[in-house]
Amino acid sequence: MNTKTLEQTYELSVYPRRDIVLVSGKGARLYDENGREYIDCASNVGVSNIGHGHETVARAIYEQYLALGNCYSMFYNPIRARLAQRLVKLAPGDLNRVFFCNSGAEAIEGALKFARSTTGRQVIIAAMRGFHGKTMGALAATWGPEYQKPFAPMMPGLKHVPFNNFAKLEAALSQETAAVLLEIVQGEGGVRVGDQAYFTQVRELCNSKGVMLIIDEVQTGFGRTGTMFACEQFAIPDILCLAKSLAGGIPMGAVLCSEAIKVPVKSHTSTFGGNPTACAAALASLEVIEKEGLIENAEKLGNYFREQLRGIESKKIREVRGLGLMIGIELKEKAGPYVQTLMERGVIALMAGATVIRLLPPLVISKQEIDTVISALAEIL
Ligand SMILES: Cc1ncc(COP(=O)(O)O)c(C=O)c1O
Repeated sequence: MNTKTLEQTYELSVYPRRDIVLVSGKGARLYDENGREYIDCASNVGVSNIGHGHETVARAIYEQYLALGNCYSMFYNPIRARLAQRLVKLAPGDLNRVFFCNSGAEAIEGALKFARSTTGRQVIIAAMRGFHGKTMGALAATWGPEYQKPFAPMMPGLKHVPFNNFAKLEAALSQETAAVLLEIVQGEGGVRVGDQAYFTQVRELCNSKGVMLIIDEVQTGFGRTGTMFACEQFAIPDILCLAKSLAGGIPMGAVLCSEAIKVPVKSHTSTFGGNPTACAAALASLEVIEKEGLIENAEKLGNYFREQLRGIESKKIREVRGLGLMIGIELKEKAGPYVQTLMERGVIALMAGATVIRLLPPLVISKQEIDTVISALAEIL
């Protein structure tokens, strides 16, 4: 049996599949089983910020695994200690404590629990079109009946309000509110960037009501938006959720929070959380981001990319938007067929809702590669 048949036969079919078999990657390029090359504008949905096949990370993983691959966090470990210190130094505000986990959804689960245990309140206010993962707690915060309905009932205590609408959020807040949970740029929800003024007002409101502000930077983190964390440009949260590109492609998540967070010992732990292999990968990936100037690249090339896209004369485009190298092209019609045609032309892109083409290239993408993507988009649109 070939690869497609084996996967179709032996795995649960929960992913909408693309009809190619990817076998390798280097930088911003991916290769299928027939040796066909693609320019990656998806980064495994925001995972591969440093590009594919980076030797610095590969070597760090290899060496750490040989030294000590796993180390449950009941024991201290020097690599974990270094990563915790590094993340706290990078983090804005007084986010000076880290909880390590393994995925975005798990980071959200931690954040929800920390907000409830610290405030003694139960209600979490999240945004319509927000996406926070698909485990039971995160799913309750994720917007969308298509995700929630088969798994009802949802965890109680979640309320949804329109994104980027301060009056609606203020009206929903009460004595029972433990936290407000928001993305700075709604990724799955259509690459929608919140306003600066909105986040400033939300931050002030949370301060005045003793409500925790949780920012989900699972997709926007680690240079994607032109700063290490997108919140640096908008509002500093009490709890910051990270994952995806944190460890250069190895599964890892983290919750950054202040010392004010109260969580009883043993009440929230994770077997693989902070394992030395992932920590070594994360330290190496952070080094790559810094040494290769990837944050500056994201800002500069993101602006260039959007400018060029806005120059495409097409009646099919409603709007081009985004921040850094997180870009949405909203069409006046369904985006699916265009994403498919792009793939046939050697560009892998994503969707964000039915009508938005989402581009999340590795931050190592070159101007020349961007020009190739622009040409392909200009031709098909
Ligand atoms: C903003 C955001 N939060 C949370 C998640 C969930 O992450 P994971 O798939 O690692 O559970 C995602 C995944 O796409 C995301 O984009």
